[in-house]
Amino acid sequence: MIDSAVAQFGLTLRRIRSEDKKTLFQWRNLDEIVALSSTRRHITWEEHCLWFNKALEGSRCMVFLVEANSKPVGLVRFDAKETHGSTISIYLIPGETGKGRGAALIRGACIRAVSIWRRLQWVEARVRSDNYRSIKAFERAGFAHQAQGQELLDDHVSLRWSRSNVVSEGA
Ligand SMILES: CC(C)(COP(=O)(O)OP(=O)(O)OC[C@H]1O[C@@H](n2cnc3c(N)ncnc32)[C@H](O)[C@@H]1OP(=O)(O)O)[C@@H](O)C(=O)NCCC(=O)NCCS
Repeated sequence: MIDSAVAQFGLTLRRIRSEDKKTLFQWRNLDEIVALSSTRRHITWEEHCLWFNKALEGSRCMVFLVEANSKPVGLVRFDAKETHGSTISIYLIPGETGKGRGAALIRGACIRAVSIWRRLQWVEARVRSDNYRSIKAFERAGFAHQAQGQELLDDHVSLRWSRSNVVSEGA
């Protein structure tokens, strides 16, 4: 089962709680995470609070804290789209990447997402085309490359995971 693949690495996913606000603010403004963000700029506490409160409310956005043996190590976020889809954004904090856990984490997160959003059919990842490790992790998690969509930036690729993966893998 997929969740046990995550557990095998000592990873757990839990929905964010109000006490995570400061940690997520600090992470969001780490240079490595800023470089991955769409705006590529640091954010203010006020901007963070607006985003965080929406994320906590959770009707269109679902955020999980990734913990490794109870220590917070990363974040997975799903943003709902029309036609029963969602985008996924994921990061492990510096020092926690490159340990071979990417695919299990991504798959586990998708399984969790479809178990909560029961009508979710597909999940899309948009990744910079030079982010080879991330692309590999999504591919190994069962994401397939798609032809470039209209809103896709030139230097990004789009990969998509389908709920039917869960059925075909027997999870
Ligand atoms: C994306 C991310 C979650 C993947 O998790 P990870 O634990 O670091 O990934 P892994 O260690 O499992 O590596 C994934 C694959 O990339 C391969 N890889 C590692 N470095 C690589 C490189 N420089 N070039 C090509 N492949 C590489 C690994 O060998 C592995 O492939 P394998 O499973 O066939 O061995 C993590 O790297 C991360 O948080 N990165 C920063 C944030 C980010 O880029 N997010 C994605 C945008 S949404």
